[in-house]
Amino acid sequence: MSLTKPTLVIGNWKMHLNVQEASLLVHRLGKHIKPHRDVEVVLAPSLLALQPVSLEIDRRKFRLAAQNAFYKDEGAYTGEVSFTMLRELAHYVLIGHSERRIYFGETLENVRDKVQAAVRNEITPVLCVGETKQERSDGQTRRVIHDQLTTAIMPLTSEEVEQMVVAYEPVWAISTFGHELAKPGEIEKVFRLIRSEIKELYGSNAAENVRVIYGGSVDDQLAGGYLELDDCDGVLVGAASLNYKQFSGIVDSAYRLEHRSEKKP
Ligand code: PGA
Repeated sequence: MSLTKPTLVIGNWKMHLNVQEASLLVHRLGKHIKPHRDVEVVLAPSLLALQPVSLEIDRRKFRLAAQNAFYKDEGAYTGEVSFTMLRELAHYVLIGHSERRIYFGETLENVRDKVQAAVRNEITPVLCVGETKQERSDGQTRRVIHDQLTTAIMPLTSEEVEQMVVAYEPVWAISTFGHELAKPGEIEKVFRLIRSEIKELYGSNAAENVRVIYGGSVDDQLAGGYLELDDCDGVLVGAASLNYKQFSGIVDSAYRLEHRSEKKP
């Protein structure tokens, strides 16, 4: 965990919670989570709930993320919502989540176009990358991360890369795909790979400043173990973010670690 960047804790609610349920969760989270300058708590409700949630959150405590958007700014694209439409609502947007790549056939190029659209509309992309179980057992992890990362960031400037977030989410560790627990050593290796790829393309500043976070079955018991990794700037939480006790517990772990690191010489 870095001493300078606030720790990012993102709750990805996926296709759960209608507007009323979302409002109830926001209310409960609001009671349990306090504002803290060193921890940035981000909620990613469904697109439908994003607007009502934006009116209910305490902005000193929470920021919002969209889970997806279409890369064109406007036009005849039935059923889609653009980044342009989200710019007043969301600070962040998840792009390239494995569920989008696997269930909706999003290609490396689709993900690249969405990253560009997010940056163009001043929404910070949270680019999700990660290998499947098969790719991992075939020894393809390096190649998959390389392809997903470099294709997506290639059109950006180094300043734009510096501002973004990369979430390493091994598909086999996501609760609904594999739920296998990732070992810190394995995660660290991929984190280093992500930063070294960025360094090669954009230099040391971008590599050091880009925020790299971890996602995959993170809950209140496991969060601390991931957050204390040197290179880990936060966590992306799925299932556990729907439970206010679990999610507040994860935020508490982040607070505790930030305070511990503040005391370090
Ligand atoms: P999980 O989901 O925490 O339920 O594994 C993480 C994600 O899919 O972003």
